[in-house]
Amino acid sequence: MACVRLPEFVERHNVSAAEALGVRELRVLGRGVSSEVVLAVEKSSPEGKKKALKKIVYGERESLADKLKRWSFFLNEVNILKELSHPNIIELQRALSCREELVLVLELHVSDLASALPHVTDFGVIRFFTQSTSALTYLHQRRIVHGDVKPQNVLLHHTGKMVRLCDFGFAQRLPENKKSCNTYSGTPAYLGPEFTTGQPVQDVYKLESFALGRLLCSLLFREKAKLNVDYLPLIRENATIPATMKECAQRLLEPSPTERATAWQIDQFLTQTSPGAPSN
Ligand SMILES: Nc1ncnc2c1ncn2[C@@H]1O[C@H](COP(=O)(O)OP(=O)(O)O)[C@@H](O)[C@H]1O
Ligand SMILES: [Mg+2]
Repeated sequence: MACVRLPEFVERHNVSAAEALGVRELRVLGRGVSSEVVLAVEKSSPEGKKKALKKIVYGERESLADKLKRWSFFLNEVNILKELSHPNIIELQRALSCREELVLVLELHVSDLASALPHVTDFGVIRFFTQSTSALTYLHQRRIVHGDVKPQNVLLHHTGKMVRLCDFGFAQRLPENKKSCNTYSGTPAYLGPEFTTGQPVQDVYKLESFALGRLLCSLLFREKAKLNVDYLPLIRENATIPATMKECAQRLLEPSPTERATAWQIDQFLTQTSPGAPSN
């Protein structure tokens, strides 16, 4: 793929990624539409230091159009991630272009939040929601929309006390003074009602607030959000859910984007209602 211009950050290697990195690949941690995340262990480190490699594999027989599509997702993720630094956003350690694979080197996490949901404590719900809100606020303040906020794209740190937003393949940086965008992918169960009208979304930040609200629902009910479930009455009637979480859900799941809270407003609300607690 000599026709693709690589950012300086991306290393070019003529060997496989495993050789270039000096690692042994152990097993697949997760799979997405066009990538595979693999657990790898460093051969040289005595303690067997582990990494997660997000690999985008393409075959030489694949059409040029398909290869370019894969490349564009990879470069998009690299270009956005390398600019970010936040405790609740995955850190990109290295990016490699090797023979027939493109690889992102990431810190290894225990699992994604979707798999961890059944074990999240009541305190964890508030903590992980607060951290996810903080990550999204950080992104939106930089005019970046993530594009696919959901528990599968939130990773659990090995301490069990921290989550990190990952998967920036669909992320977009919006121009100043522009809130609309023509393309937004997302996952149906996390998309706001304005997405289904067929009209262009006027405020993509608010669309992402809704996804944050659905992420909160998945935390509160310890399962991935379901497409046609209206969670608000369930949350309102549930006496065990804390009032602050009820208010957050109410404000984020507001059907009208104009009335819906931004991630920043929820971040502020959480800081005011529980100062000093429970972030990182
Ligand atoms: N750093 C990591 N540590 C552990 N597991 C990870 C890591 N990154 C991704 N995964 C797992 O791989 C899955 C797919 O990764 P993701 O970045 O979401 O790729 P995709 O774009 O293919 O959805 C995640 O849902 C998660 O289960
Ligand atoms: Mg994903």
